[in-house]
Amino acid sequence: MIIKTDILIIGSGAAGLTAAIELSDRFKVAVISKNQIIDSSTWYAQGGIAAVLAKEDSTKSHIEDTLKVGDGLCNREAVEFCIENGREAISWLEDCGVVFTKNKKNSDLHLTQEGGHSFRRVVHADDATGREVSDSLAAKVLRNKNIKILENHLAVDLIIKNKKCFGAYVFNKNKEKVLTISAGAVILATGGASKAYLYTSNPDGASGDGYALAWRAGCRLENMEFNQFHPTCLFHPEAKSFLISEALRGEGAILKTLSGVPFMKKYNSKGDLSSRDIVARSIDNEMKVSGTDNVFLDISHKPPKEIKKSFPSIFKKCLEFGFDITKSPIPVVPAAHYTCGGIVTDLDGRTDISNLYAIGETSCTGLHGANRMASNSLLECIVFAKAAANDIKINFNLDRSSVPEWDNSKVIKAGENILINHNWDASRRLMWNYVGIVRSNDRLKKAKDKMKLITSEVKEFYKNYEVTSDFLELRNLVLVSELIIKSAIKRRESRGLHYNLDYPKKFKKASSTILSPG
Ligand code: FAD
Ligand code: SIN
Repeated sequence: MIIKTDILIIGSGAAGLTAAIELSDRFKVAVISKNQIIDSSTWYAQGGIAAVLAKEDSTKSHIEDTLKVGDGLCNREAVEFCIENGREAISWLEDCGVVFTKNKKNSDLHLTQEGGHSFRRVVHADDATGREVSDSLAAKVLRNKNIKILENHLAVDLIIKNKKCFGAYVFNKNKEKVLTISAGAVILATGGASKAYLYTSNPDGASGDGYALAWRAGCRLENMEFNQFHPTCLFHPEAKSFLISEALRGEGAILKTLSGVPFMKKYNSKGDLSSRDIVARSIDNEMKVSGTDNVFLDISHKPPKEIKKSFPSIFKKCLEFGFDITKSPIPVVPAAHYTCGGIVTDLDGRTDISNLYAIGETSCTGLHGANRMASNSLLECIVFAKAAANDIKINFNLDRSSVPEWDNSKVIKAGENILINHNWDASRRLMWNYVGIVRSNDRLKKAKDKMKLITSEVKEFYKNYEVTSDFLELRNLVLVSELIIKSAIKRRESRGLHYNLDYPKKFKKASSTILSPG
């Protein structure tokens, strides 16, 4: 069956939903989402969205902070473009119905502070900003007659002819069938790949599908070695890496060893508000030196009323696991959080393939460089989704080619799932142990060799058996992991989030790692 639409958007996080809203006044838009519409990293975002709103702050300062945290690898043009559009992005979200936390005194937006930022500039909705953004945008999209939402639909591959994109093959998870969707333009808004690691703050869907789809379509990927580990996820076997927002440190929380000794000043003069790469590596080192499984984050010296008011969701969640954060420190560990690299795009989200755009975490616009500054990601989603939508409005040309339907005549149903379950776990454990916060040449080589075996089993399976959604995610996860390893091996220095014990120094001149398919 072939479904036709003007624009196909793959992904329903902040980036995908923003693009859908912006395009819907001119086009028929289909948004596919592999789970429910709000099941995305966006929904889980806590801290907020960075934008210059305080009187004492300036665009120049936000730009300089972003460049500094990006450790020489940001594209200045992308940084300026994104940050100059920050205020407008916040107003746009408010127009869409997003309600941010306000100051009691003057009803201005309340701003919190996070690592790397020189001023308070993080707009937020208590400590559940993503939930507010996601629910509001989803509600707006669901009311829009020009936008069709297909939940439980997972993109398998893009349809490409002569370096042009004409749609995608999409797996309907309920009917277990692959559909063909023909579109005049396709936008990848599929989020990140942090699920490539055993421990992650991300939801299960962050299996890096967009990078894999784009790679197989012929797009270049940039800086895939820069995987950001969030320093503070709740350490509890049943917490599934629940995030403890950096905003806690912004409001005075202190990282301590298990014996209660603060340690961050030892590593950096900015102490607990150093950038994330520094904090995650410092925690990693403290845990290795002391042989412990976690460290503590302590905010209990602050008035309980203030803590409960500023962090209601975190307070509640921690209490469920037996930790009263107003009284005692929180056990925390770092976990994979954000993929800084991605599909090479220009400032309008255009990729190497005509009619194919990439926006949000899956793209590499050049904003983050070697390390993303806290709360710049949601901002990037909104700003670049709007830019891509605008570009499509200007350049859209409905050049529809006939598209071949999905062919599964040469494959049979798989009798068992053991290969999928085993390799899902093996790949993520391998990435955690060999391609983690601190890397070495030996570990990266071992990772490459081991991943080769997993890849060949996955390729063999794909040739012979009908696809399932678990298999499709594994296929993407393994490919992306392979590409992360390849990028990490290519970088013979330590910069930003990539730290290699065998190359501890940084080159004078920064350059991107570009991987080209074929
Ligand atoms: P996502 O929101 O991840 O959405 C991706 C969408 O694509 C999902 O709908 C998914 O189902 C769909 N999808 C993926 N693959 C396929 C496929 N093959 N077929 C169909 N659909 C597919 N950033 C900030 O700026 N501020 C914060 O405070 C903040 N806090 C965070 C807290 C947590 C716990 C996490 C995990 C992240 C946080 N981030 C934060 C990062 C930020 O939330 C994400 O980078 C951002 O939301 C990504 O948005 P996105 O639209 O690109 O992708
Ligand atoms: C957090 O709240 O600590 C997450 C912020 C981010 O990832 O930008």
